[in-house]
Amino acid sequence: MVTILGTGNMARGIGTRLLAAGADVTLLGTQAAKAEALAAELRGAASGGAAVKSGVVGDPIADEIIVLAVPYAAAGSLLQRYATQLGGRTVVDITNPLNATYDGLVTPPGSSAAEELAHVVPEATLVKAFNTTFAQTLVAGQVAGQPLDVFLAGDDAAAKARLAQLVQAGGMRPIDAGPLQRARQLEALGLLHITLQSTLGTGFASAVKILP
Ligand SMILES: NC(=O)c1ccc[n+]([C@@H]2O[C@H](COP(=O)([O-])OP(=O)(O)OC[C@H]3O[C@@H](n4cnc5c(N)ncnc54)[C@H](OP(=O)(O)O)[C@@H]3O)[C@@H](O)[C@H]2O)c1
Repeated sequence: MVTILGTGNMARGIGTRLLAAGADVTLLGTQAAKAEALAAELRGAASGGAAVKSGVVGDPIADEIIVLAVPYAAAGSLLQRYATQLGGRTVVDITNPLNATYDGLVTPPGSSAAEELAHVVPEATLVKAFNTTFAQTLVAGQVAGQPLDVFLAGDDAAAKARLAQLVQAGGMRPIDAGPLQRARQLEALGLLHITLQSTLGTGFASAVKILP
């Protein structure tokens, strides 16, 4: 159902929540052994009947939803590599396009990582999500007993709704933040949340949440 490109911290976090949602997951990494090790870890932790497969970047993608769990610097070339396979599919951009000193964004003014990546694969549908949720909180599935808020931005209502269903089924609260352009604000929020970790001493275990 969902292919995750990347086998790092966010692949673990999002993979955990997708399996909780009952979604089959395929992990594609730069190294087969690392991808299979994470697949085995996720299989061991999952309680439902969803399947976890692994492979390497370059393997064909069969799934309709593809999560880009790689650094922003690697995302564009990875999308280019898969461009011919992505027509009509949903690409979920989770990146925070941080600069080298982690105190600013590398994207041009008036744009966002999500919009820049959408230009790379115009035949795909881009949805921004998960950039404000830290990896370890996705594994835990909650912060302070509260479900995680996952902000979604995209121009295709059906693609956003399908992803929102998975987010909800995975025990989180999807919040439709609006069109893909809202990724600009979500990425600024992601940066703020990251920089506040040292201020607050929260060790990347905090969540951005809208309370009623
Ligand atoms: N960590 C968080 O809490 C968090 C929260 C929100 C958003 N994000 C975003 O999520 C994305 C992933 O972050 P992460 O924390 O999961 O990073 P990570 O643990 O360092 O994992 C990054 C993954 O990307 C792969 N990768 C790197 N360059 C690649 C390339 N050129 N081609 C293919 N794969 C490549 C790495 O593969 P190998 O290492 O095996 O080579 C690794 O599997 C980033 O864009 C980050 O901004 C992270």
